[in-house]
Amino acid sequence: MTKLKLNPFKFGNPVEGDYYLPREKLTQLVKQFLQNQIHVVLIGPRRFGKTSFVLNVLKELENDGYDFFFVDIFNITSHKDFLSQLVRAISAKKKWYKRLQDKIPKLRPKMSFDIDQATGEQSFGLSMEDASDKDIKEAIQDVLSSLEKLGKNVIIAIDEFQKIADIADSGWLEATLRTHMQQLKNTSFLFTGSRRSIIYDMLNNSARPFYRLCQSIEFPSFGDEFSTWIVNRFKSISIDCQIDIIDDLRDLVQDTPNYVQMICFHLAASHLKSIHSTDVKEALDRIVGQNAYAYQTQLNSLSRIQQRTLRLAAHEPQNVYSKSLLTKFEITSPPALASAIKALKAKGIIEDIGAKKSQFVFDDPLFAIWLKKLFD
Ligand SMILES: Nc1ncnc2c1ncn2[C@@H]1O[C@H](COP(=O)(O)OP(=O)(O)O)[C@@H](O)[C@H]1O
Ligand SMILES: [Mg+2]
Repeated sequence: MTKLKLNPFKFGNPVEGDYYLPREKLTQLVKQFLQNQIHVVLIGPRRFGKTSFVLNVLKELENDGYDFFFVDIFNITSHKDFLSQLVRAISAKKKWYKRLQDKIPKLRPKMSFDIDQATGEQSFGLSMEDASDKDIKEAIQDVLSSLEKLGKNVIIAIDEFQKIADIADSGWLEATLRTHMQQLKNTSFLFTGSRRSIIYDMLNNSARPFYRLCQSIEFPSFGDEFSTWIVNRFKSISIDCQIDIIDDLRDLVQDTPNYVQMICFHLAASHLKSIHSTDVKEALDRIVGQNAYAYQTQLNSLSRIQQRTLRLAAHEPQNVYSKSLLTKFEITSPPALASAIKALKAKGIIEDIGAKKSQFVFDDPLFAIWLKKLFD
């Protein structure tokens, strides 16, 4: 009987173990900061591996005797959601769930924890239906100030933390977090964020609570080691692939690890003995094609000048303000371009690269590929 070969690639969700290529330098750096109670913000594009990285760092720190919890706030819309995610993160570990109840007796009657006997699945509930905003704010403060009592050395990771800025509370949550971050002993915070323009303002605007509160780190692209790693993953299932093919693929997808793994997943599943650059192009085309409906819908929702701006950015992501490009893409004036760019950034469709004002990346590099093909 032949052994079933598992696909050596994974995408879509955070990865670990064999599917995770360690980022050793960055790991050491981030650990250094956190161990010295310097709060860290990791800023990088979506699908670059921030969550995987954070989970990996947390696991290493746990081995060194730290307690951690991981708060995912990607989908929060209110203080109630924030509280719920915070308590859920703490409750993910049973001993912490009990400790939290001990430290905040008020919260106890509102918390519930069930384990499904059949599936073993845990479910957590926080019943705050009739709580006022004031009650909820108080509960958030109680939970935050209890953090240092829950463990000896505590790391709190908040993933996609720019969501905090979306809550329309005149900065209450930002300010509250700041206060606790400064007061809590033996507690470090690790944030990640992907909306660069929002985060830059949070961190660099002296009127805002997070000003100079954290060490910010640009989440880097992989170096050459990523291509080598991919080639070896192919080799593990006896598929031959040259490094330069993977280097080209990385260029095509803005070096986004998620999409590199996604394309490779499809290639690995296609029973090829060796991978050629035409195979990569075909796989990429197919995947971009599968998203066409969503991309078309998104494009249709934009104004004409925004559509033209996107076309421009897809074709020439560098130096978008050059005069010849404006003419070529029928954009009337630099200010018109600037305001379209601003709107597209606010929608999260494009993002700045670093501090440069004339260069952009697409939040979704496949959208850029689709656009480019559409108008070629
Ligand atoms: N260290 C890594 N090694 C290999 N692949 C990775 C790594 N980090 C991320 N990936 C790829 O990127 C995908 C998305 O990772 P994730 O951590 O969810 O990114 P983010 O949180 O930045 O959106 C993973 O499913 C995997 O395919
Ligand atoms: Mg993530």
